[in-house]
Amino acid sequence: MKAHFSKAGFILAAAGSAIGLGNIWKFPYITGVYGGGAFVLAYIVAVLFIGIPLLIGEMAIGAIGKKDPVGSFESLAKKAAGVWKNVGFSMLTGLVILSFYSIVIGWILYYLFLSLSTLPQTVEEAKTVFETMLALDIKTQILFHTLSMVITVFIVYLGVDKGIEKTNLILLPILFVILLFLFFYSMSFDSFSLAVGFMFVPDFSLLTPKALLVAVGHAFFTLSLGMATMLTYASYTDKNTNYVKSAIIVSLMEIGVAIFVGITLFAFLFNFGFESNQGPGLVFVSMPSLFYNFGMFGNILAVLFFIALAFASITSAISILEPTTAYIMAEKKWSRKKSVAVFGALVWGVGILLLLSNTKEYSATFTFFSKGLFDWFDFVSSAILLILGGIFTALFLGFGADKNNLKMHMTHFMSDFAFEAWYFGVKYCIPPVLIALMIYMISE
Ligand code: TRP
Repeated sequence: MKAHFSKAGFILAAAGSAIGLGNIWKFPYITGVYGGGAFVLAYIVAVLFIGIPLLIGEMAIGAIGKKDPVGSFESLAKKAAGVWKNVGFSMLTGLVILSFYSIVIGWILYYLFLSLSTLPQTVEEAKTVFETMLALDIKTQILFHTLSMVITVFIVYLGVDKGIEKTNLILLPILFVILLFLFFYSMSFDSFSLAVGFMFVPDFSLLTPKALLVAVGHAFFTLSLGMATMLTYASYTDKNTNYVKSAIIVSLMEIGVAIFVGITLFAFLFNFGFESNQGPGLVFVSMPSLFYNFGMFGNILAVLFFIALAFASITSAISILEPTTAYIMAEKKWSRKKSVAVFGALVWGVGILLLLSNTKEYSATFTFFSKGLFDWFDFVSSAILLILGGIFTALFLGFGADKNNLKMHMTHFMSDFAFEAWYFGVKYCIPPVLIALMIYMISE
């Protein structure tokens, strides 16, 4: 029998995939860099008008096709359109993402461990800790990257229900409790209202084309779109799981968590007079050094914070490994064990090269056109590959798939009118917007 999610298990697994480093690490820092309110608004609009329709589309392909990524695209394609199955290979973007995602999970696991001892007393000290790890401490980074991959591979090896569903069932509630606790705690700061203002009062002069682009790219990344992840998860549902509703719930949860976490972190930062525009170091530099101010309690806060980051990112990492695993098992008849071992090892090996590209000793070897390999992988995947995956998925839904077939299935869960509106948007509105974005991005 095919592996299977329960209804709640599916929503949790999809939410676990969506809610990740994108929410706790990336969203706050890009919001800081691009100036707050207006950027948050752009992100919400991008999730509502591009993210939700595409998420519904991806889930529909998996739920109707009930196969691995390539197989699902193939079984929904109109007869003459066999080439469309290749859209399924957008799943390979996942391996690119996982190779740097796992390095960041490694940093988190290391910081979890550091949080147990003395916290850095000043920002300078915290910066030194982070930069030393990044540039000089190759062994530690390899160790924790390895640990992160072992955990990810092991969960995916356990399978859809015993591994993925169960992990999400346990980790996500704990994650929510920790985030809520930190949020309520941050309400006691005077800076809380400042943080709310920063997140919600838009200054449209800050909304440059670049910021808009980043917002759309982030909507893709954070909803796990454009690489067949949600499609693969949806293929494990039974036929009365309402994926339209699930897609909307997951997207709203995603926005909710991003905003709560954003307010929390900025309240903490502003309370100690930190700047909002700290960039990627926000989580690894600013946060640890401000926790120091709480004494012993600061260690507890730091541990909770890094546990939250670890749980959020592990539930995402497993969702990135599952599509290729599903594909190779279905199409090449590999066992689950062999699939995860081979892809895991591949990602692990590439990850080490990426990690070396950040080090002092090897950065020259792994720097191309003045960007290190790590940054290249991040940029190429979230700025180009995911959006390309989204464009092809939308084109497939509009032109490659049989509309009547889609309509027959999807109107179980939405009205005829809603279906037509969705179909029109996905076919005629989303591709041109995304293509324009791509062109702008490449000509940048
Ligand atoms: N959505 C996750 C995050 O916000 C990352 C992620 C998981 C992802 N699976 C993905 C991104 C698939 C793109 C595609 O951290």
